[in-house]
Amino acid sequence: MCGIVGIVGQAPVAPLIVDALKRLEYRGYDSAGVATLDNGTLDRRRAEGKLVNLEKRLGEEPLGGLIGIGHTRWATHGVPNEANAHPHFAGDVAVVHNGIIENFAELRDQLRVEGADFASQTDTEVVAHLIARALKNGASPQEASFATLKQLRGAFALAIMFRGDENLIIGARNGPPLAVGHGDGEMYLGSDAIALAPFTDSITYLEDGDWVVLRRSGMEIFDMSGQPVERVRQQSSGASQMVDKGNYRHFMEKEIHEQPEVISHTLARYLDFAQGTVANFDLPFDFAKIERLAISACGTAYLAGLIGKYWLERYARLPVDIDIASEFRYREMPLPENSAALFISQSGETADTLASLRYCRGEGIPIAAIVNVRESTMARESDGIFPTLAGPEIGVASTKAFTCQLSVLAALTLKAARARGTITPDEEKAFVRQLAEAPRYVSQALKLSDGIEKVARELSHVRHVLYLGRDTNYPLALEGALKLKELSYIHAEGYAAGELKHGPIALIDEQMPVIVIAPHDRIFEKTVSNMQEVAARGGRIVLITDEKGAKNATLDTLETIVLPDVPEFVAPIVYALPIQMLAYHTAVLMGTDADQPRNLAKSVTVE
Ligand code: F6R
Repeated sequence: MCGIVGIVGQAPVAPLIVDALKRLEYRGYDSAGVATLDNGTLDRRRAEGKLVNLEKRLGEEPLGGLIGIGHTRWATHGVPNEANAHPHFAGDVAVVHNGIIENFAELRDQLRVEGADFASQTDTEVVAHLIARALKNGASPQEASFATLKQLRGAFALAIMFRGDENLIIGARNGPPLAVGHGDGEMYLGSDAIALAPFTDSITYLEDGDWVVLRRSGMEIFDMSGQPVERVRQQSSGASQMVDKGNYRHFMEKEIHEQPEVISHTLARYLDFAQGTVANFDLPFDFAKIERLAISACGTAYLAGLIGKYWLERYARLPVDIDIASEFRYREMPLPENSAALFISQSGETADTLASLRYCRGEGIPIAAIVNVRESTMARESDGIFPTLAGPEIGVASTKAFTCQLSVLAALTLKAARARGTITPDEEKAFVRQLAEAPRYVSQALKLSDGIEKVARELSHVRHVLYLGRDTNYPLALEGALKLKELSYIHAEGYAAGELKHGPIALIDEQMPVIVIAPHDRIFEKTVSNMQEVAARGGRIVLITDEKGAKNATLDTLETIVLPDVPEFVAPIVYALPIQMLAYHTAVLMGTDADQPRNLAKSVTVE
């Protein structure tokens, strides 16, 4: 959620820290701050809101110093104002933090009794006070930090700096990720490798429970018993890609347009187009032998998993249990020996998904993960990973990661179907051929912009929208509603079209746009009946369909968005496009921030 950075450098660090924070702004943008040590002076600049406000502040009042820490915040404890912005100070200590200190109230009460004054409402400030108190009692910075870490409960990634030592930053990780970057006479700390990309691609990832002492000359890592530990130093693969918007207005728009290419790359990794078969990739379990698959994920990744369930059950006859990870982790679900688990996550760091993964690890079943960030914690803790080749996704709302997750799930479905003998080689060939065409269909869908903008104009005047779909279009209806509400702040709900009459039909009136996702598939006629029920009550229908569907719908719509006729198996990948574009255009028309919608963060590393 929050992003943290630390640099022990050779040149003034404040501008470098801001540069790194720009790459972490996707993790939160409620406030930002930088602190440096400059010839014995510990000073900071902080600003409410996005990073540009901090940059402006630093322009007016620059900070010198060759060592510093920085933070971009997604507020958990305390409103997003300047007083709650990190870095937090106490005595000679400065701290930035990503995560939640669960026992902060009890620690704060103790510290208050001893006379500590708190300047913020955050949970983080207790960390600074605890370390400052230990220093006052004669501990060294290292001893004080270690003693403090042992008192903290919850999830944290920390960077700590000390007045009096301009060659020392201490970092710690318990939950949220933290990467150490190795430079030439400089060392770095960051929430991810992309943040450190301009400085180095030589990275060491801390494990849970690790803490690190950074100096210009190098680093030492310790575990929670205080013993030195070795962690691998590696070249970061994604770090070199600096991402910019190119000629697009927003990252989201660019990422929507990248989909034909990234879907194609992803499919090419899992399918052998020349042979018309699934490629020969490794799995941490045997699809022929497992009797159940448990899938768990959050948000949009969960909805990709839901589509995966429809596919795996229909084509591979493999029973799938799917759960939202925040429920899965506490549900104590029985997982029989012959089951396996699959987790889906763009970031590979989402706290609830990671906790679900660890629950399955405890149950002893094989674990696979579909992740976009290959160095992520989930990737490292899984028995096998299926990378999506979406490239860095910067827009907070997931677009290309979603369709790449679907691409992997489609390939896994064919792999499972083949292993379980539920499709013939000819059928496999036909499905692979259909998937090979998906990038082309997606390119065609991108050309629908004009009609979609027209619908977006309608939506920008309403307060509520309903999305309907059946079968794999039901998860897409949920995804359409999720995208619209997170980007435009319009209330939207997704429903299984057949469920409409069991309650939500009461909402239908002349004010209510109803967006129906209905390609001309096996159950198109059923959805048409549901649309008739809406039309009969004055509901205004936007139909997203194909050419055959548009011909056969036989009812008046506010607008019909017509996609090419595509095979049923690949339709979810193609139909994701108009719903993403609709939410994007509505946000642009309403003037909300499509890349960084309010209250959100991209990598949700707290519960
Ligand atoms: C919505 C969105 C979120 C994420 C969710 C999971 O547009 O992006 O719902 O899908 O926070 O994130 P990852 O995939 O990183 O685990």
